[in-house]
Amino acid sequence: MNLKIEKLITFLSSHKNNINPKELKSFLINLNLLEEDLQPWADFDHPLQDGYGRKLVYAEDKFEIMVMSWMPNDFSAIHNHGYTQWGAVQVFGNASHYVYKMENNHIKLVEKQSFKPKDIVLVTNEFIHQMGNQTSTPYLTLHIYGTNEPREVITADSLIFEIENNRVVKTTGGAFFQLEEKEVDVLSDLKCNDEQTILEFASTILPKSKTFKTKQKKHILNWISEKKDILFKN
Ligand SMILES: [Fe+2]
Repeated sequence: MNLKIEKLITFLSSHKNNINPKELKSFLINLNLLEEDLQPWADFDHPLQDGYGRKLVYAEDKFEIMVMSWMPNDFSAIHNHGYTQWGAVQVFGNASHYVYKMENNHIKLVEKQSFKPKDIVLVTNEFIHQMGNQTSTPYLTLHIYGTNEPREVITADSLIFEIENNRVVKTTGGAFFQLEEKEVDVLSDLKCNDEQTILEFASTILPKSKTFKTKQKKHILNWISEKKDILFKN
Protein backbone atom coordinates (compact mmCIF):
# COMPACT_ATOMS: atom_id res chain seq x y z
CA MET A 1 0.00 0.00 0.00
CA ASN A 2 1.01 3.60 -0.60
CA LEU A 3 3.34 4.85 2.17
CA LYS A 4 1.28 7.97 2.96
CA ILE A 5 -1.92 5.91 3.27
CA GLU A 6 -0.03 3.50 5.57
CA LYS A 7 1.06 6.47 7.70
CA LEU A 8 -2.55 7.67 7.88
CA ILE A 9 -3.75 4.21 9.01
CA THR A 10 -0.99 4.04 11.66
CA PHE A 11 -1.90 7.51 12.93
CA LEU A 12 -5.63 6.69 13.13
CA SER A 13 -4.98 3.27 14.76
CA SER A 14 -2.82 4.82 17.46
CA HIS A 15 -5.10 7.81 18.10
CA LYS A 16 -8.56 6.23 17.66
CA ASN A 17 -9.26 6.00 21.41
CA ASN A 18 -8.58 9.64 22.02
CA ILE A 19 -8.81 11.48 18.75
CA ASN A 20 -8.52 15.23 18.62
CA PRO A 21 -10.10 16.49 15.36
CA LYS A 22 -7.71 19.45 15.17
CA GLU A 23 -4.76 17.07 15.54
CA LEU A 24 -6.22 14.93 12.73
CA LYS A 25 -6.45 18.01 10.54
CA SER A 26 -2.82 19.03 11.22
CA PHE A 27 -1.72 15.45 10.58
CA LEU A 28 -3.46 15.50 7.19
CA ILE A 29 -1.91 18.86 6.31
CA ASN A 30 1.59 17.54 7.16
CA LEU A 31 0.94 14.23 5.37
CA ASN A 32 0.47 16.23 2.17
CA LEU A 33 -1.57 13.61 0.32
CA LEU A 34 -1.82 14.07 -3.44
CA GLU A 35 -4.71 12.96 -5.63
CA GLU A 36 -2.43 10.33 -7.20
CA ASP A 37 -2.06 8.66 -3.76
CA LEU A 38 -5.81 7.87 -3.94
CA GLN A 39 -5.78 6.60 -7.54
CA PRO A 40 -5.87 2.87 -6.62
CA TRP A 41 -9.38 3.48 -5.25
CA ALA A 42 -10.66 5.67 -8.10
CA ASP A 43 -14.04 4.57 -9.46
CA PHE A 44 -14.97 7.03 -12.18
CA ASP A 45 -16.76 4.26 -14.12
CA HIS A 46 -19.40 3.88 -11.43
CA PRO A 47 -22.98 3.20 -12.67
CA LEU A 48 -24.56 6.44 -13.95
CA GLN A 49 -27.46 6.22 -11.54
CA ASP A 50 -25.08 6.09 -8.53
CA GLY A 51 -24.36 9.54 -7.26
CA TYR A 52 -20.58 9.02 -7.24
CA GLY A 53 -17.93 6.31 -6.98
CA ARG A 54 -17.34 4.92 -3.49
CA LYS A 55 -14.50 2.61 -2.43
CA LEU A 56 -13.44 1.44 1.01
CA VAL A 57 -9.70 1.85 1.60
CA TYR A 58 -9.48 0.48 5.13
CA ALA A 59 -11.70 -0.15 8.16
CA GLU A 60 -11.17 -0.93 11.83
CA ASP A 61 -13.69 -1.07 14.67
CA LYS A 62 -13.46 2.67 15.32
CA PHE A 63 -12.70 4.25 11.96
CA GLU A 64 -12.96 3.77 8.24
CA ILE A 65 -11.24 5.40 5.29
CA MET A 66 -12.98 5.79 1.94
CA VAL A 67 -12.23 7.35 -1.42
CA MET A 68 -15.05 8.89 -3.44
CA SER A 69 -14.83 9.61 -7.19
CA TRP A 70 -16.73 12.51 -8.69
CA MET A 71 -17.44 12.90 -12.37
CA PRO A 72 -18.88 16.22 -13.62
CA ASN A 73 -22.49 16.52 -12.32
CA ASP A 74 -22.00 13.76 -9.75
CA PHE A 75 -23.78 14.61 -6.51
CA SER A 76 -24.47 12.84 -3.27
CA ALA A 77 -27.91 13.01 -1.75
CA ILE A 78 -28.25 15.08 1.44
CA HIS A 79 -27.05 12.79 4.23
CA ASN A 80 -25.55 12.34 7.67
CA HIS A 81 -22.98 9.70 8.65
CA GLY A 82 -24.60 7.05 10.82
CA TYR A 83 -22.54 6.33 13.93
CA THR A 84 -19.77 8.76 12.94
CA GLN A 85 -18.67 10.95 15.84
CA TRP A 86 -15.54 12.44 14.33
CA GLY A 87 -13.87 12.53 10.97
CA ALA A 88 -12.49 14.58 8.12
CA VAL A 89 -12.91 15.00 4.39
CA GLN A 90 -10.11 16.17 2.10
CA VAL A 91 -10.98 17.20 -1.44
CA PHE A 92 -8.74 17.12 -4.50
CA GLY A 93 -10.88 19.27 -6.78
CA ASN A 94 -13.15 22.33 -6.70
CA ALA A 95 -15.89 20.46 -4.86
CA SER A 96 -19.23 22.07 -4.03
CA HIS A 97 -20.30 21.54 -0.46
CA TYR A 98 -23.71 22.22 1.06
CA VAL A 99 -24.35 22.17 4.83
CA TYR A 100 -27.93 21.75 6.05
CA LYS A 101 -29.78 22.05 9.35
CA MET A 102 -32.89 20.19 10.54
CA GLU A 103 -35.41 21.80 12.88
CA ASN A 104 -38.82 20.28 13.64
CA ASN A 105 -38.78 18.17 10.47
CA HIS A 106 -37.89 21.23 8.35
CA ILE A 107 -34.63 21.16 6.44
CA LYS A 108 -32.73 24.30 5.52
CA LEU A 109 -29.49 25.04 3.67
CA VAL A 110 -27.25 26.99 6.06
CA GLU A 111 -24.01 27.18 4.09
CA LYS A 112 -22.77 26.65 0.56
CA GLN A 113 -19.01 26.32 0.18
CA SER A 114 -16.74 26.01 -2.79
CA PHE A 115 -13.66 24.01 -1.87
CA LYS A 116 -10.20 24.32 -3.33
CA PRO A 117 -8.04 21.25 -3.99
CA LYS A 118 -6.50 19.94 -0.71
CA ASP A 119 -9.06 21.71 1.52
CA ILE A 120 -10.01 19.72 4.62
CA VAL A 121 -13.35 19.85 6.42
CA LEU A 122 -13.91 18.23 9.83
CA VAL A 123 -16.98 16.02 10.28
CA THR A 124 -19.09 15.94 13.46
CA ASN A 125 -21.96 13.59 14.31
CA GLU A 126 -24.79 16.00 13.64
CA PHE A 127 -23.25 17.06 10.33
CA ILE A 128 -25.85 16.98 7.50
CA HIS A 129 -24.34 17.71 4.13
CA GLN A 130 -24.24 17.18 0.38
CA MET A 131 -21.22 17.15 -1.91
CA GLY A 132 -20.90 17.29 -5.65
CA ASN A 133 -18.95 18.18 -8.73
CA GLN A 134 -20.25 21.24 -10.59
CA THR A 135 -17.03 21.57 -12.60
CA SER A 136 -16.09 19.84 -15.87
CA THR A 137 -13.15 17.94 -14.29
CA PRO A 138 -13.35 14.59 -12.47
CA TYR A 139 -11.64 14.41 -9.07
CA LEU A 140 -11.29 12.31 -5.91
CA THR A 141 -12.02 12.98 -2.24
CA LEU A 142 -10.75 11.25 0.89
CA HIS A 143 -13.19 10.50 3.74
CA ILE A 144 -12.28 9.47 7.28
CA TYR A 145 -15.16 8.51 9.58
CA GLY A 146 -14.61 7.56 13.21
CA THR A 147 -16.59 6.65 16.29
CA ASN A 148 -15.83 6.39 20.00
CA GLU A 149 -17.69 3.09 20.51
CA PRO A 150 -16.55 0.15 18.32
CA ARG A 151 -18.93 -0.46 15.39
CA GLU A 152 -18.92 -3.05 12.68
CA VAL A 153 -19.81 -0.53 9.96
CA ILE A 154 -19.50 3.06 11.12
CA THR A 155 -21.44 4.66 8.30
CA ALA A 156 -24.25 2.07 8.51
CA ASP A 157 -27.66 3.52 9.29
CA SER A 158 -26.85 6.85 7.69
CA LEU A 159 -29.85 9.08 7.13
CA ILE A 160 -30.75 10.47 3.73
CA PHE A 161 -32.84 13.61 3.67
CA GLU A 162 -34.94 13.23 0.52
CA ILE A 163 -36.36 16.70 -0.02
CA GLU A 164 -37.86 15.52 -3.33
CA ASN A 165 -39.78 12.73 -1.54
CA ASN A 166 -40.68 14.72 1.61
CA ARG A 167 -39.10 12.08 3.83
CA VAL A 168 -36.06 11.00 5.82
CA VAL A 169 -34.84 7.45 5.14
CA LYS A 170 -32.18 5.21 6.61
CA THR A 171 -29.73 3.31 4.41
CA THR A 172 -26.63 1.20 4.82
CA GLY A 173 -25.30 1.94 1.34
CA GLY A 174 -24.11 5.08 -0.42
CA ALA A 175 -25.83 8.46 -0.14
CA PHE A 176 -27.33 8.18 -3.60
CA PHE A 177 -30.36 9.85 -5.12
CA GLN A 178 -33.34 7.67 -5.99
CA LEU A 179 -32.42 4.62 -3.91
CA GLU A 180 -34.63 1.60 -4.50
CA GLU A 181 -37.41 1.19 -1.91
CA LYS A 182 -35.84 -2.09 -0.74
CA GLU A 183 -32.61 -0.26 0.11
CA VAL A 184 -34.18 2.17 2.57
CA ASP A 185 -36.28 2.34 5.74
CA VAL A 186 -38.62 5.32 5.84
CA LEU A 187 -38.19 7.12 9.17
CA SER A 188 -40.09 10.41 9.16
CA ASP A 189 -41.60 13.25 7.18
CA LEU A 190 -39.39 15.99 5.84
CA LYS A 191 -40.52 19.49 4.93
CA CYS A 192 -38.75 22.17 2.98
CA ASN A 193 -40.36 25.58 2.51
CA ASP A 194 -37.24 27.66 2.11
CA GLU A 195 -36.85 29.19 -1.35
CA GLN A 196 -33.03 29.20 -1.42
CA THR A 197 -32.83 25.58 -0.21
CA ILE A 198 -35.28 24.41 -2.89
CA LEU A 199 -33.41 26.30 -5.64
CA GLU A 200 -29.99 25.00 -4.63
CA PHE A 201 -31.27 21.45 -4.17
CA ALA A 202 -32.91 21.57 -7.61
CA SER A 203 -29.57 22.67 -9.09
CA THR A 204 -27.95 19.52 -7.65
CA ILE A 205 -30.61 16.96 -8.56
CA LEU A 206 -31.65 18.26 -11.99
CA PRO A 207 -28.35 17.58 -13.83
CA LYS A 208 -28.21 14.13 -12.18
CA SER A 209 -31.86 13.38 -13.00
CA LYS A 210 -30.93 13.00 -16.70
CA THR A 211 -29.67 9.56 -15.67
CA PHE A 212 -32.89 8.65 -13.80
CA LYS A 213 -35.63 6.37 -15.10
CA THR A 214 -38.62 8.10 -16.80
CA LYS A 215 -40.87 7.64 -13.75
CA GLN A 216 -38.25 9.25 -11.51
CA LYS A 217 -37.71 12.14 -13.95
CA LYS A 218 -41.47 12.85 -13.89
CA HIS A 219 -41.40 12.77 -10.13
CA ILE A 220 -38.68 15.45 -9.99
CA LEU A 221 -40.67 17.71 -12.37
CA ASN A 222 -43.80 17.22 -10.26
CA TRP A 223 -41.83 18.06 -7.15
CA ILE A 224 -40.62 21.33 -8.69
CA SER A 225 -44.12 22.26 -9.85
CA GLU A 226 -45.45 21.56 -6.32
CA LYS A 227 -42.95 24.12 -5.04
CA LYS A 228 -43.95 26.84 -7.53
CA ASP A 229 -45.89 28.85 -4.92
CA ILE A 230 -42.72 29.16 -2.83
CA LEU A 231 -40.44 29.87 -5.80
CA PHE A 232 -42.71 32.46 -7.42
CA LYS A 233 -44.34 33.95 -4.33
CA ASN A 234 -43.74 37.57 -5.30
FE1 LIG B 1 -20.74 12.73 3.76
